[in-house]
Amino acid sequence: MKFNFENQVALVTGGSRGIGKEISQMLAEAGAKVVINYRSNKTAADETLAQLAGDGHFAVKADMGNPADLKTLVDQIISTHGRIDVLINNAGIFEAHPILETNFDDWQTAWQNILNINLVGPSNLIHLCSQHMAKQGGGRVVNVSSRGAFRGEPDCPAYGASKAGMNAMGQSLAKKLAPQNIFVHTVAPGFVETEMAKEALKGENGVALRSQSPLNRVAKPEEVARTVMFLASAGTEFLTGCIVDVNGASYLRS
Ligand SMILES: NC(=O)c1ccc[n+]([C@@H]2O[C@H](COP(=O)([O-])OP(=O)(O)OC[C@H]3O[C@@H](n4cnc5c(N)ncnc54)[C@H](OP(=O)(O)O)[C@@H]3O)[C@@H](O)[C@H]2O)c1
Repeated sequence: MKFNFENQVALVTGGSRGIGKEISQMLAEAGAKVVINYRSNKTAADETLAQLAGDGHFAVKADMGNPADLKTLVDQIISTHGRIDVLINNAGIFEAHPILETNFDDWQTAWQNILNINLVGPSNLIHLCSQHMAKQGGGRVVNVSSRGAFRGEPDCPAYGASKAGMNAMGQSLAKKLAPQNIFVHTVAPGFVETEMAKEALKGENGVALRSQSPLNRVAKPEEVARTVMFLASAGTEFLTGCIVDVNGASYLRS
């Protein structure tokens, strides 16, 4: 599938590694000017930046959990490129907090961190970017959610809740923003071969997780990235509000 993002400016949160790295590379290959956001690993961000095709790309350190960082990030994109066409809300964290083994203070911390980074941060970026997109005449948002929103996350309930919230937020904002030609799509992957899933995919546990799909494997980052690219591209306007499963039929929701 060939994509065309010539003359478009795209922000990819968590664009330095994993799924976000693949998305950044595909967007650059398709002609976009890509802004890679990361939290702390500057080396990974710089390495990914150096591999991008074309020019006009840059990387910005900003914590999704910090609204002031996100305001600075979007201001920097506008002062450099004067516009923003595509927002990919990809950054996220998964930190276990099993209810019976987590003390009350740690439970508070886990819920606050995970909801802030996985849900409130993406909502803040949609707010900041949509002001510019509306003035420009339109834009695209793709949120990277998770199968866990539907199937449950017994050991990481805040993660499941954050992604369910992301799904609902995407649907609400798809309705609100469509008259401004801003389209909001969501992708819900199952397990993907990245750093985030590395531990879970080891040994016997990994064998069991792979067997959840009739393909007997988990997703490759590029499979999620290709779906994101499709949704972010022109011609998918009427999909706005969708939630697309990328889980190899490991979990079929009705
Ligand atoms: N991997 C899976 O099995 C899987 C399954 C379903 C859904 N997902 C979702 O897919 C998305 C990408 O996951 P992944 O597997 O590619 O993750 P990953 O390999 O762990 O990479 C995470 C990326 O997000 C950045 N990041 C983390 N916390 C951040 C913060 N507070 N502010 C800004 N950036 C932050 C990281 O930057 P630094 O390196 O600088 O920290 C890194 O670039 C996430 O939303 C995840 O929930 C993943």
